[in-house]
Amino acid sequence: MKRNDLCWCGSGKKYKKCHLAFDEKIDSIKFIKNKGQIRPQHKLINNAADIEGIKKAAVINSGALDLAGSMVKEGVSTLEINDAVHEFILSHGAHPSCLGFENFPKSICISVNDVVCHGIPSKKEILKSGDILNIDITTDLEGYFADASRMFQVGEISFEAERLIKVTREIMEAGIAAAKPWHFVGDIGAACSKMARANGYSVVTDLGGHGCGKNFHQDPFVSHDCNAETGMLLVPGMSLTVEPMINAGRKQVNVDKSDNWTVRTADGSLSAQWEKTILITETGVEVLAS
Ligand code: MF3
Ligand code: CO
Ligand code: CO
Repeated sequence: MKRNDLCWCGSGKKYKKCHLAFDEKIDSIKFIKNKGQIRPQHKLINNAADIEGIKKAAVINSGALDLAGSMVKEGVSTLEINDAVHEFILSHGAHPSCLGFENFPKSICISVNDVVCHGIPSKKEILKSGDILNIDITTDLEGYFADASRMFQVGEISFEAERLIKVTREIMEAGIAAAKPWHFVGDIGAACSKMARANGYSVVTDLGGHGCGKNFHQDPFVSHDCNAETGMLLVPGMSLTVEPMINAGRKQVNVDKSDNWTVRTADGSLSAQWEKTILITETGVEVLAS
């Protein structure tokens, strides 16, 4: 691309006034292949219009999570929450990304107690006092995606469950705080796993976070348990999720053989997860969806 060409990012500006210095900076970095350091592709970089689009999707997504949370009560089925959120997202002109994604049958994921993630809402699953649950919602508005999840509790929960929810949120925040432009995505997982271990918890490694913005799932893969300075270089304009899955017991998980989706802890221990979609900026990080 020549200096006076329009920039590849789609900003409409000349390359020399837009991403030329950015490309030169990436070119100046020596990627250490045997550390697994990876160069980010241009298609992962959002321009200003893309960021506005993701933020608009995120407003609906946060509203959907608020609605879901307001319905969490003893006696409510997880399907009722799914159906209300489904209507809410459609009424805002958007699409619940989970519905039909790789044949996922419902609009959101609700993962109760030992379910780590990808719980399928069901008429038969009735919330009861003492349950903890993750509600994970992704909204697609005009081709822009916002992905976030939160933990909720039903009535009184055990001290252990309460601590798991609180610490898991802190682990997500530590991961987000470790995400910095011109550093590597592995820094996120290094920070998450350090805090998890310090609290006696394990980190699920079979699943992780992901780039999110112009696609539901895109590069980079975001491990929550890895070495610092590994994986993809984080650069301004990239958007990705931080979504640690933290088990009170061992990290091993199993996928339910009857539905091929529900992920449970192998040892039956409780699991928690929080998720935000973040943007890497020139100076740090901006939360896009939470
Ligand atoms: N929202 C989940 C994530 O955080 C993905 C769910 S995929 C589904 O990446 F098919 F289970 F819905
Ligand atoms: Co999600
Ligand atoms: Co996600």
